Amino acid sequence: MDRKNILVIGAGSGIGKALLEKLHAAPGINAIGISRRGISFESTFESGKNYRCDLNDRKSLADFCGDLTSSWSEIAAIYFLAGDGLFLPIEDLEIEDLEKHLFLNLISPMFLTSKLISMLRPGSLLCYLSSTAGRQGFPESSPYCASKHGLAGFAKSIREELKPRGIRVSTIYAGAIDTSIWDGREGFDRKDMIPAEDAAIFLASLFFQPATFNQDEILFLPPKGVL
Ligand SMILES: NC(=O)c1ccc[n+]([C@@H]2O[C@H](COP(=O)([O-])OP(=O)(O)OC[C@H]3O[C@@H](n4cnc5c(N)ncnc54)[C@H](OP(=O)(O)O)[C@@H]3O)[C@@H](O)[C@H]2O)c1
Repeated sequence: MDRKNILVIGAGSGIGKALLEKLHAAPGINAIGISRRGISFESTFESGKNYRCDLNDRKSLADFCGDLTSSWSEIAAIYFLAGDGLFLPIEDLEIEDLEKHLFLNLISPMFLTSKLISMLRPGSLLCYLSSTAGRQGFPESSPYCASKHGLAGFAKSIREELKPRGIRVSTIYAGAIDTSIWDGREGFDRKDMIPAEDAAIFLASLFFQPATFNQDEILFLPPKGVL
């Protein structure tokens, strides 16, 4: 039986890295990742490996789409996990930082969805990782809240658009997960956060749900709630 191809976007660290490891270890799965610190693509994609693609670089994005479409005929799941934080008082916002942030967190998943959607068959999965910041506001987080609300809005629209094609689409509003996105942020106890490996267990399980079952929107939080 052919193995199922899964793409993890943002597999260089944190949740994406943990998810790629988990999926690669599952029987029947051929999982690869992409991020800036990945290895360069030679002629074939090898399961468990994270390949280089800078989602803020249009050429890098286009090159990756070309390599993938010429190597794989189908994709069983895409996890959209790449992203960064832009946390600051609104008066400190610089347009270059905002453009980069929105391109990574919002434009690149929209572009990749558009370019790769023709490779998904009925029963396959698109999983978009938004955040609690994609459903409520937090101070000094307005660019991040805007990008994560935007991603959730995009995912919900894609869910409606793809219903006739039987493609599953999940929007995830995740609470605090202990990764480097929290580095340098005061006032949060990392011990209160979900370990990245635990978040990966949950995200992987979405793919293994029956194809007759779509988890449209999911909120998950650490036991202490929204931190
Ligand atoms: N941690 C949380 O509490 C939490 C909660 C809700 C949602 N999220 C979301 O989870 C996602 C992953 O974040 P994380 O918490 O796991 O933090 P992280 O460890 O900083 O992960 C960020 C990921 O994005 C990749 N990335 C960053 N810039 C990139 C670029 N220009 N091109 C390609 N890949 C890029 C990174 O890999 P490279 O550095 O190799 O490029 C890394 O794999 C983000 O979308 C974040 O908003 C996190």
